Amino acid sequence: MLIPNKTLAIIIFCFLTTATIFSQNKYTIVIHGGAGTISKDMPDSVKEDYYSALKEALSIGKSILHLGGSSLDAVERVINYFEDNPKFNAGRGAVYTAEGKHELDASIMFGKDLSCGAVAGVTGIKNPISLARLVMEKSPHVFFFGEGAEQYGKKMGVTFVENSYFDTEKRFEQLKKSQEKIKGTVGCVAIDNEGNITAGTSTGGMTNKMHGRVGDSPIIGAGNYANNKTCGVSATGTGELFIRHNVAFNVSALMEYKGFTLQQAADEMIFNRLPEGAGGIIAVDKEGNYSMVFSSSGMFRGVADSEGVFEVKIWKEE
Ligand code: GLY
Repeated sequence: MLIPNKTLAIIIFCFLTTATIFSQNKYTIVIHGGAGTISKDMPDSVKEDYYSALKEALSIGKSILHLGGSSLDAVERVINYFEDNPKFNAGRGAVYTAEGKHELDASIMFGKDLSCGAVAGVTGIKNPISLARLVMEKSPHVFFFGEGAEQYGKKMGVTFVENSYFDTEKRFEQLKKSQEKIKGTVGCVAIDNEGNITAGTSTGGMTNKMHGRVGDSPIIGAGNYANNKTCGVSATGTGELFIRHNVAFNVSALMEYKGFTLQQAADEMIFNRLPEGAGGIIAVDKEGNYSMVFSSSGMFRGVADSEGVFEVKIWKEE
């Protein structure tokens, strides 16, 4: 059968387009599901649950980037996954405040133009990272808190839930043992095929925190930062320390002003500036190099890139 020239041209065009998308896309994505004291004695089935959740989160981001999607979409969707999974301290699995409620924080930053959005102290927003993105893209502002953030969410049509939606038995047990300061947070940083870096961070904060307390996660420069000139960073750990040391911005600043590599800058902040056990960061630089460092006993984390790297880890030695 003879194929008409026009049809042949269309077939070749589709083939080349698809081949281009799959062969030339260059990307790196890193994720974290919180750092802290993570016991190696947890049952194997629980470990496996964490590994498979991390793999699922990473696959969501990887497939978006692999198909030529933006780092913004990848970061938002990965964090939505974490927010909907009760294992992680963000969204559904958010920790309790001292008053037995949930107050959630999140932020997102786009390194191409330094645009960013953040929300803090929200109590009825199912996916705070998506509201943070709306603040960034659709409002003239950067940061909304409490009732004002919820009002803006209503106006933008985001999904609302009752505060009890965030109730989970595991977190309630942690509140009862209030000396156990659970500090997990979730985050994702990615660079896409266009060289745009996005960083996002979402959290329920710290177990037993005082009403109104805000941590580092929604504070641009402390728990989250992205700049295409340098890198993107998402932090997890004791928020107060990350705020005092302006950790995420300082990683970028050390690279820009002092010529540090990403790894040197990350090590400097986590091991030389912060007290031991403060937490960790995940980061990606403008070349697609990545760093995942922490000074706690473990950090739920993962990395994937266009060269075929795909791994998830919890402890230092694995
Ligand atoms: N790093 C999360 C918090 O302290 O709220």
